[in-house]
Amino acid sequence: MTDNAKAPLLEVKDLVKNYHDGPNSRDILSHLDLVVNEGDFLTILGPSGCGKTTLIRCIAGFEDYDGEICVEGNPVSDPGIDRMMIFQTFEQLFPWKTVKKNIQYPLKINGISDKDELDRIAEKHLELVGLKGKGDLYPHQLSGGMKQRVAIAKGLALNPKIILMDEPFAALDAMTRNKLQGELIRIKEKENATVIFITHNIQEALVLGNRVILMSKDGEIKINMENTIPKPVTPASEGYGEMWKVLNDALWEEDGGEGAAIE
Ligand SMILES: Nc1ncnc2c1ncn2[C@@H]1O[C@H](COP(=O)(O)OP(=O)(O)OP(=O)(O)O)[C@@H](O)[C@H]1O
Ligand SMILES: [Mg+2]
Repeated sequence: MTDNAKAPLLEVKDLVKNYHDGPNSRDILSHLDLVVNEGDFLTILGPSGCGKTTLIRCIAGFEDYDGEICVEGNPVSDPGIDRMMIFQTFEQLFPWKTVKKNIQYPLKINGISDKDELDRIAEKHLELVGLKGKGDLYPHQLSGGMKQRVAIAKGLALNPKIILMDEPFAALDAMTRNKLQGELIRIKEKENATVIFITHNIQEALVLGNRVILMSKDGEIKINMENTIPKPVTPASEGYGEMWKVLNDALWEEDGGEGAAIE
């Protein structure tokens, strides 16, 4: 067994990120350590501007940084198909391509050219996200929730080691959001995916995550806790109220008690 085989799926060590964009630039992420194991569903909470997006952009390979970020022991320096990012915006699909072609485009770029194989992968992932038979539609013919399902299908089709999600359900209505949370749990179990998911919503963090971290406004990890509430998690679950309170109090504290952006 090599050393790499023993390494956790993702290890972040002493991560510092400073955009160096002016005389007053500061460290956005400050000596941050984090381990994510295969199959984890990690949810990230923290006040606006604390560096959540910056953290997963560093993990995705979109930013340079000081410190170490390793996937299976290999340092991250560039974007790669082992890490797929899914964003909040509904406009992450090419409007001139059908749903199927949107899913297939990154596959083609990554060397899959066999048409039957491309169709098989697109169909499998459309079915996975509940959009069977919708492959020939264009993005403008889809609702916001359907667009996010396609974005998830597109990300999963590349079979990444880690899925990075930046508030993907924040712009959805409550019902659709609820439904997609359930779908994501089902997909995660079926594909044994590893997910890192940013949210502003404590309930969402507890419903989805087997582990929840809360970042401080100084870009440090203030809370890193196992979610021990038995699945499926609902606000009526035993232990939910206690965990919700710990996270809510910590967020209020980070916001200086001036009104936390919390649901
Ligand atoms: N490209 C950039 N150049 C310079 N500063 C940036 C850049 N991107 C983000 N920042 C700064 O880094 C800090 C953290 O931003 P980031 O987007 O990571 O926060 P966040 O926790 O995701 O916030 P939100 O919850 O509002 O999405 C902010 O002060 C922001 O202004
Ligand atoms: Mg953000």
